[in-house]
Amino acid sequence: MEVVILPGTEQIAVLVADAIENLLADRPEAVLGLATGSSPLAVYDELARRYDAGRISFARARAFMLDEYVGLPADHPELYRNVIEREIAGRVDFAEGAVQGPDGLAADLPAACAAYERAIAESGGVDLQILGIGTDGHIAFNEPGSSLASRTRIKTLTGQTRRDNARFFDGDVDAVPQHCLTQGLGTIMDAHHLVLVATGENKAEAVRQLVEGPVSATWPATIMQHHQHATVLLDEAAASRL
Ligand code: GLP
Repeated sequence: MEVVILPGTEQIAVLVADAIENLLADRPEAVLGLATGSSPLAVYDELARRYDAGRISFARARAFMLDEYVGLPADHPELYRNVIEREIAGRVDFAEGAVQGPDGLAADLPAACAAYERAIAESGGVDLQILGIGTDGHIAFNEPGSSLASRTRIKTLTGQTRRDNARFFDGDVDAVPQHCLTQGLGTIMDAHHLVLVATGENKAEAVRQLVEGPVSATWPATIMQHHQHATVLLDEAAASRL
C-alpha cells in the first residue's frame, strides 16, 4: 500500500485527477468507481475543471457507484444517485446510462444487488476506484464486522455512521436511513487500483488502523493491505497518528 501525505485537499485532488486523466488518455473506455461523502468532492471539482478546459472526456467511460441508501424517495437530494449526478456525472460528458449505482428503490433488493454484481463483472471490472473512509473504518457502507469477502448486499448502518452522516440531513439523525445497499469488500477488492482519500483529524484513528493495524473486519478498510495496487492519500491531520 502506497501512503502519500500532502498539505491539503487541493493537492490530493490534483493527484487523483492526474491518475484519472492518465487512465482515460490510455483507455477512454475505462471503468471508474465513484464514491459519495465529502472526501471526493474536491476531486470531482478538479475533474469538472479539467473537463471544462477540454483536458479530459468521459464520453466513452463508464462508472459504478459504491453504495446507496434504502428508503429515500427518488427525488431526495441525498439519494446517492442524485448526489453523484449533482457532484460529478451531470458536470461532465458521461453518456446516458453510463453511470450506475445499486438500486435502493428496487422492490426486490437482493435481486438488485445480484444484478449490480453482474453489471460490474460484465463491464470488465473497475479500473480505478475512488474511496473515502468512515470514522469507524468503513469503506463504502461496509461497517465493522463486515465479511472481508462480501459482495453487494443490504446492510444496516451503525449509529456512528448515521450520526456522522446526519450533517447531510440538516443534522437530523432520525432522517438518515437505517439501511443501505453497498458493494462488498470483495467487490471493492476486485478493482484494479484503489485510491482512498482521507482528510481531517476525525479520520486519524481509522487511518492508523488502515495503514498500521492488523487486517480485521473490526476495521473493514484494513482489507486494502492485501490489495496489489492501493494508494492512500492523506492530509497531515488524517496522518497525525501514523
Ligand atoms: C459515507 C459513505 C462512504 C464514505 C464515508 C466517509 O457514509 N458511504 O462511501 O467514504 O462515509 O464520508 P466522508 O467522506 O463524508 O467523511
